[in-house]
Amino acid sequence: MAQSDPKYVCQECGHEAHKWMGKCTGCGAWNTLVQETESADVEAQVPDLSTDGQNGDPTTHNQPEQLPEVELGEEARLRTGVDEFDRVMGGGIMQGSFSLIAGDPGIGKSTLMTELGGYLPDRKILYVTGEESKRQVKLRARRLGVDSDALYLLAETNVQEIANAVDDVTPDLLVADSIQTISRPDLSSAPGSVSQVRESTASLLKLTKEREFSTFLVGHVTKKGTIAGPRVLEHMVDTVLYFEGDQNHAYRILRSVKNRFGAANEIGVFEMRENGLREVPNPSEIFLSERGYGVSGSTVVCSLEGTRPILVEIQALVTPTSYSTPQRTVTGFASQRLQMILAVLEKRAGLAFSDHDVFINVAGGVRLEEPAVDLGVAIAAASSFRDIPADTGSVLIGEVGLGGEIRTVSQIEPRLKEAAKLGFDRAVVPENNLDRIAGEYDIDVSGAEQLTGVVDVVL
Ligand code: TYD
Ligand code: MG
Repeated sequence: MAQSDPKYVCQECGHEAHKWMGKCTGCGAWNTLVQETESADVEAQVPDLSTDGQNGDPTTHNQPEQLPEVELGEEARLRTGVDEFDRVMGGGIMQGSFSLIAGDPGIGKSTLMTELGGYLPDRKILYVTGEESKRQVKLRARRLGVDSDALYLLAETNVQEIANAVDDVTPDLLVADSIQTISRPDLSSAPGSVSQVRESTASLLKLTKEREFSTFLVGHVTKKGTIAGPRVLEHMVDTVLYFEGDQNHAYRILRSVKNRFGAANEIGVFEMRENGLREVPNPSEIFLSERGYGVSGSTVVCSLEGTRPILVEIQALVTPTSYSTPQRTVTGFASQRLQMILAVLEKRAGLAFSDHDVFINVAGGVRLEEPAVDLGVAIAAASSFRDIPADTGSVLIGEVGLGGEIRTVSQIEPRLKEAAKLGFDRAVVPENNLDRIAGEYDIDVSGAEQLTGVVDVVL
């Protein structure tokens, strides 16, 4: 292939095309194709697979091993002692693992990474900063009370220089902040472009696996909420963590969306303070602490985040609209899901939302995605519509179907346990879940089949 052939790479999905097009044929995004050229050494070398049965002698080529013969060795995990962090990592940072931590700018990624120095004072950490100066990182570390002499700072963006520093320091942990600034000078494209992000990550990945330290790669998130750079990044790494939260709230959630060494979707909750992040071991208590009692439009739901049930307050406000198209404003919940729930309430329970504005707010800046919170959202809306407070001692668990039926949810028992622990008297759960409850919980459990039934009982 001629080396100078230009190619056009989609900055969203990494799709490659031979000519420029306005729309990417890979993902359908507009105006995302950018011309990139690659140097010869990264061009895939097509191996010569012609074989005449003479594939080298068996001592040199890579031999498959039978499963029982594969050696496991010690499972070396680095525990930070901060439970909220260790849980998300699947019980500690696996030696030789490569993790990507992504989040909006200013959410606290660099803060969390700097704090690793405080969590692990006797581990050598090499903190590569491509965005800030060493002085800035030091100032932050001072604010966080981190003063470890095992924390090495390097202001660098060149992958080769980073590899040299790894040789010098031999760290247990490498932090690269951020991947959008790191580049390989032998590639002509700009830092942050798809090929740079992909190739720099590949180089760091190789380095990590060869030397068996662990790496955290910091990445920014685009407006659409995906990690800036190609999707392939997510496939390359062992663990993908999202650091999320509302800038206006103090709570931050660290969520593993992919983890080769533990359960995915596990969350850790932190609070951002003046002097850094503080772990929140009992998030339900925090999320319920500002609950309004005796007010219509408030319910409590239980959402399972990874292996952990969390109780959160849902607030709804339904008011007559003064617009021709009524408003639907939602924070922390999918607005399409809300539309569906309102339609079901209208059709099955006769609540006419079509001339009302509906505002839904999930307290504490949390984002709920599990369908098991549907019932709570529906009842909050119905409660505000009728202006009758819902029973404050009840937790509502259930998915709402289009027929108004309450559908089964997964793992009902840990949810009941959490609700009982926080002193709730009653849990409304899907009827079909009742026979899956084996244990005894100090809470009244009632089964529900239809949304209309719950509306009548709870309000
Ligand atoms: P930062 O870690 O720089 O964010 P990111 O690396 O994700 O872009 O965090 C920046 C925000 O965190 C900034 O708005 C200030 C706030 N912050 C605190 O509230 N307390 C602190 O101790 C620190 C270090 C930062
Ligand atoms: Mg930062």
